[in-house]
Amino acid sequence: MSNWVRVAAVTDCDVGTLKAVMVENTPIVLANVDGDVFALQDECSHEEYPLSDGELEGEDLVCIYHGARFECATGRNKGLPAIRPVKSFTVEVRADEIYIDLS
Ligand code: FES
Repeated sequence: MSNWVRVAAVTDCDVGTLKAVMVENTPIVLANVDGDVFALQDECSHEEYPLSDGELEGEDLVCIYHGARFECATGRNKGLPAIRPVKSFTVEVRADEIYIDLS
């Protein structure tokens, strides 16, 4: 069952930037890749540091701490030292507001 929650306005997450939000005690990082917004759990799968401190490189989020790389659209790990993905959430934009499905 879906659990849609409004997490931010589109204007809160500009193209090419990351934004950390706390949603029902779950840390989430929003990533705006060329106008498409994605949402990942805001915790690296390598160590427990926030991915929102990292940087976008193309379609990937690169962790600032040790350089792990994740695909924003899926959370798939693409570069060491991460050997596991991070959870991704389905995103919808409705009337310039960003919603994610927390289910
Ligand atoms: S904490 Fe992210 S790469 Fe180590």
